[in-house]
Amino acid sequence: MMKIWVLLLLVSVASAQTNCPLARTLKAAGMDGFNGVSLAHWVCMAFAESSYDTQATHFNPSDGSTDYGIFQINSRYWCSDGKFPGKKECPFTCNQLFSLQNSIACAKIVVQKRTMTAWDGWKAKCRGQNVSKYIAGCGV
Ligand SMILES: *[C@@H]1O[C@H](CO)[C@@H](O)[C@H](O)[C@H]1NC(C)=O
Repeated sequence: MMKIWVLLLLVSVASAQTNCPLARTLKAAGMDGFNGVSLAHWVCMAFAESSYDTQATHFNPSDGSTDYGIFQINSRYWCSDGKFPGKKECPFTCNQLFSLQNSIACAKIVVQKRTMTAWDGWKAKCRGQNVSKYIAGCGV
């Protein structure tokens, strides 16, 4: 019995950053290989940016902008929260990015215009790394 619990603990620690439901949703949305970015890199980016929190917001005191949703998409250029004038690249209000599907659609636009380097979290924690653990065992 003890051995089983230790094994379960090890498995859960080893897979703490894995997110199979997200990996499957991203794959179904055509993100595996989108703009040359592998599924594991998308999942890694989501973990680095928001710890997989679709409702995450982060205020940037330096310019008064806010990052929204699982991919922490910024309100200055990408979505509109009413604070910055001008047309935004994604056809969503920032609050609409709390929807995972809307965030995915917006992330496709961001990566096409800016590549993954648009995301500081990805640069810091995923770029150049072996990110296979983020989808390990997911069967995707
Ligand atoms: C990445 O890590 C996995 C698991 O740790 C390993 O199986 C795989 O060979 C690694 N890939 C590369 C390119 O190093």
